Amino acid sequence: MSRLNLTGKSAIVTGGAAGIGKSICTAFAQEGVSVTVADIDTEAGQSALQELEELNPEGAHLFVETDVTNRDSVVAMVSRTVGERAKVDIIVNNAGIDVPRLLVDPAGEEELDEAVFDKTFAVNQKGAFLCAQAVARAMIAQGDGGTIINMCSEAGLEGSEGQSAYAGTKGALYAYTRSWAKELGKHNIRVVGVAPAILEPTGLRSPAYERALAYTRGITVERLRESYEKVAVPLGRVGRLDEVADLVCFLASDMASYITGTVVNISGGKSRG
Ligand SMILES: NC(=O)c1ccc[n+]([C@@H]2O[C@H](COP(=O)([O-])OP(=O)(O)OC[C@H]3O[C@@H](n4cnc5c(N)ncnc54)[C@H](O)[C@@H]3O)[C@@H](O)[C@H]2O)c1
Repeated sequence: MSRLNLTGKSAIVTGGAAGIGKSICTAFAQEGVSVTVADIDTEAGQSALQELEELNPEGAHLFVETDVTNRDSVVAMVSRTVGERAKVDIIVNNAGIDVPRLLVDPAGEEELDEAVFDKTFAVNQKGAFLCAQAVARAMIAQGDGGTIINMCSEAGLEGSEGQSAYAGTKGALYAYTRSWAKELGKHNIRVVGVAPAILEPTGLRSPAYERALAYTRGITVERLRESYEKVAVPLGRVGRLDEVADLVCFLASDMASYITGTVVNISGGKSRG
């Protein structure tokens, strides 16, 4: 019997069809949580749902095709979750994108433009706002509290070469976490963040991402890949997705009942971007 006592809770995980989000969905399902996978990728979302149903056939899991940048889409996803499970106790604002670009690129190849800036802002920052607002409304109406978890990044505090737009949106999530915690504490809604650094590969680390990031740092893709392993992580390795998922489960549980308005670093001790 797990001390987390999450059995019977209702959770939404945005970007839950792949990578860290999928790992969080799996860990939740193992703890007896009913999960809504809210993702823009229908094929990956359906397959993630099937895996959750096999893992925990008793859970009332859902996949809802969702674009977190679109208010109507977010509101419909939250309504469907509450309609089918009568409540939502947890949301993990995890959907995110990262398109490496330089502020100024004299060669003109990988310079930050408005399209990349706006898209990064829309998914990482506006998406978290729209989801938190829709879910907080539902939680306040339910009257028995809840937990909002924002997927930040170590880059949001430390900055990151070639990733200023991304780091800026993640820095904003630290501020949202603290501010929403102050606003929602009186409703017993806790707001926390988790901040990973370098993890085992996910969809985020696509060939296009690696090519652009290596370019912005003036190194080859091979050197970039080597640097993941050689980076100064005191624990001497990159993080696993299930380690992030375990932290999310703890923060969502009553074992973390006095933790709000803070972001927990999960970086193996790494503290420089
Ligand atoms: N991978 C890392 O090392 C790392 C480190 C720190 C923080 N993070 C953060 O973790 C989160 C998840 O990243 P990941 O590495 O698992 O990436 P990923 O690309 O593997 O997964 C992201 C998921 O988000 C979904 N998504 C993208 N745009 C969406 C939208 N508009 N609406 C709904 N869903 C959308 C994608 O379809 C995908 O399933 C991101 O917020 C990322 O910034 C990742």
